[in-house]
Amino acid sequence: MLDAKQLGVAILIVVGLTASCTGRAAHAPGRVLPHSYANVPAQWELLDRVREVRAPQAMVASGHPIASEVGTRVLRSGGNAVDAAVAVGFALAVVYPRAGNIGGGGFMIIRPSSGEVFALDYREKAPGRASADMFLDSAGRIAETSLIGHLAAGVPGTVAGMAEAHSRFGSLPFEQLVAPAIRLAREGFVVSDRMAAGIESREEDLARFEASRRQFLPGGHPPTPGTLFVQSDLAATLQLIADSGPSGFYTGRTADLIVAEMERGGGLISHEDLATYRPAWRDPVTTTYRGYAVYSMPPASSGGVTLAETLNILEGIDPMPPLASTAGVHVLAEAMRRAFIDRNQYLGDPDFVGMPLDRLISKSYATSLRETIDPVRASTTPEFLPQLREGGETTHYSIVDSRGNAVSVSTTINSLYGNKVTVSGAGFLLNNEMDDFTAAPGQPNQFGLIQGEANSIRPGKRMLSAMTPTIVLDREGNLKLLLGSPGGPRIITAVTQVISNIVDHGMTLAEAVAAPRVHHQSLPDRIYYEGSGLRATTIDELRAMGHFVEQRDGSIGSVAAIIRDGANWVGVSDPRGTGSAVGY
Ligand code: DON
Repeated sequence: MLDAKQLGVAILIVVGLTASCTGRAAHAPGRVLPHSYANVPAQWELLDRVREVRAPQAMVASGHPIASEVGTRVLRSGGNAVDAAVAVGFALAVVYPRAGNIGGGGFMIIRPSSGEVFALDYREKAPGRASADMFLDSAGRIAETSLIGHLAAGVPGTVAGMAEAHSRFGSLPFEQLVAPAIRLAREGFVVSDRMAAGIESREEDLARFEASRRQFLPGGHPPTPGTLFVQSDLAATLQLIADSGPSGFYTGRTADLIVAEMERGGGLISHEDLATYRPAWRDPVTTTYRGYAVYSMPPASSGGVTLAETLNILEGIDPMPPLASTAGVHVLAEAMRRAFIDRNQYLGDPDFVGMPLDRLISKSYATSLRETIDPVRASTTPEFLPQLREGGETTHYSIVDSRGNAVSVSTTINSLYGNKVTVSGAGFLLNNEMDDFTAAPGQPNQFGLIQGEANSIRPGKRMLSAMTPTIVLDREGNLKLLLGSPGGPRIITAVTQVISNIVDHGMTLAEAVAAPRVHHQSLPDRIYYEGSGLRATTIDELRAMGHFVEQRDGSIGSVAAIIRDGANWVGVSDPRGTGSAVGY
């Protein structure tokens, strides 16, 4: 077994002040770095930028400040956490169109204060006319159509999911929860630098589709920061949803517009696909990690199983070696590798495939996997060098209300701005979630994931996700932590590391979220690290152990989390993103 003390640790000492005030930097520049950061290079600066928000009653942490405000307003007006989750979800569809959506899908973990935990799956489904090899060109390669354009879209689940969560747990009228989004779409909101830059980064692809051109490139260009962004078609679509619930989306005018859009661009979603879409309640994946109870999303997301398997392997390594140390990165990578090998082979839509879930998340299986980890040598997964096409975008939000009800939600249209197709007349982007299926055995999807037959395309099947909305209880069984992230497969490893940072390294939430992350997904056989997140000596030592180590352009996840700390909730939105936490 590895011992943290085997590692030569250079201690970084920086003298200064530690602050943890409402909405302020958790660590001021020129500060004392926490001891847990001893192996983190001095250039790592996220700890200077992370903000923690403390409040005694309720908290919303989301990927966009306006959405977090909408959520807290619902809570203040007497709504519960599920009411707020619905309002935040619709608001994100307006103010965060890169990922927030009504044209995509997601997963929600709900823990009412009574203590039972519920998992809602509103993942998109393959259209009825989808087929296993629909994305293969004549040479058997995956065509661009799995990512861009009409064929890439799965049947959206978000509106049905929001309505289902609301009908079971909501307390305020549904239309009241859609109203803020309608107002934001109709009256507009101010374009941020990041929004303008995001649209600019996908300008070429958005310009290929008429309604996307009109919506996102007014006057032929990305909107100018500081101007108002108005979405009248989207406001009208949201009004129909407010008036009629899911039938205002899955039937009638909006359904007609979706089907007409499909016919215009050679897509497959039919009236029947829309009218028959239903979300599904699932049993959450549960495990314990050093006495903390962890609840997360079961298939059709791989998030919970892969998280549980990774944590179960790590649990037997006691103590965990320090953050960003050679031994620490090694055991993380080897645990991740093993969990992802199983993920990629076994997991898929539970309505279509049988999966050995009990075995995969059992402690005895984790023990047998842990025993195969050599403390000083990297294992290997067969070498393969997929092209990693860049850039998806998902969004996570976490909410607690003043009664202790908790909701952890991840939602996506997969890539940044989904399949780039705005439904003409309806004003919302469609997802490109079909790329999450195994389009061809042995060939990677946009995240470099090489997956198996369990995740092959079938009509009406949900494509396997990595989204990991998670709730953690403390050793006494009290609500402790809510978290999740965007990042495709990196979602799972980001969530794993934040939990480990808190439980194993005693970090505050701000420290845990700001800490540098690594990622391993079995194939490609690589340890990815964030720029300046590992020291050169650590990288050299990992390479000497046989690891392939590569710096990742960009970040590994972007966590939105809430933790209980004494009498307060503490909200942290990842300094890697531009979200915010708002509480009262
Ligand atoms: O469901 C999934 O796993 C992916 N569609 C998520 C995409 C994503 O997180 C992109 N974000 N960076």
